[in-house]
Amino acid sequence: MTRQQIKAELENRLDMSNIPAHIGIIMDGNGRWAKRRGLSRIKGHQEGAKRVKTVVRYADDLGVKHISLYAFSVENWARPSFEVSALMKLIKAYIVRERQELHAEGVKFKLVGRLNELAPEIVKEADISTELMKNNSGLSLNLCINYGGRAEIVDAVREIVRSGIAPEKIDEETISRHLYWPEIPDVDLLVRTSGEMRTSNFHLWRSAYSELYFTEVLWPDFDDVELLRAILAYQGRERRFGMTSEQLTEQEI
Ligand code: IPE
Ligand code: IPE
Ligand code: MG
Repeated sequence: MTRQQIKAELENRLDMSNIPAHIGIIMDGNGRWAKRRGLSRIKGHQEGAKRVKTVVRYADDLGVKHISLYAFSVENWARPSFEVSALMKLIKAYIVRERQELHAEGVKFKLVGRLNELAPEIVKEADISTELMKNNSGLSLNLCINYGGRAEIVDAVREIVRSGIAPEKIDEETISRHLYWPEIPDVDLLVRTSGEMRTSNFHLWRSAYSELYFTEVLWPDFDDVELLRAILAYQGRERRFGMTSEQLTEQEI
């Protein structure tokens, strides 16, 4: 079968009434992809950055409302400094280079993470994109940079304390409202590439009831067909949210 035939076959099986509203992707495996080819890790990151376009465009076509891409964690500062600076350059270049095309496609853009620790020019370029695309109606591309799930909760707690809310008034809704970009909903489907089975501090709060999907595919090899496989796996799950299977069947009736 050709790639197109495989894609058509998988698309046939898709239930368009059950597309995850928010997909989070831990884009892992760039370094291993490069190493297998005798290339530098930086080359792996460059190839990885190229895959973003295909995946975002296809997710938007399918009606996904949010895609959160984990591109740099708070822990990634511990990498060799030349790799960190190459990643930061790549991220900034990506934001600038893709701006007009993303806008033309009707996508929205958000930078998600501890922004005050990032180089101001990255935040500035991201702000330009967010502002330009804020009235678009397509998918929201949430680029997670200097993001840590624990850091996000710490920052939310700081804000809550600063605002002087009485402790007995604090509930889960209060925490949700103080996360970075509170309008970003819970993650329905959390994908991690490269065979690692951990979430590495991604979207802790919003992934409490996410369906997890792990694939051996390295991020630079991930494409629309791989996204389809992930969504089909999601559609095969029963999301019970603590209830029994029977209760869910009754609800459907
Ligand atoms: C993911 O690829 C990109 C970032 C974490 C920035 P890696 O660089 O972690 O690739 P591996 O895990 O070493 O293969
Ligand atoms: C997670 O990948 C972070 C990103 C993809 C940005 P890592 O490669 O940093 O995660 P660990 O260290 O293997 O858990
Ligand atoms: Mg990795």
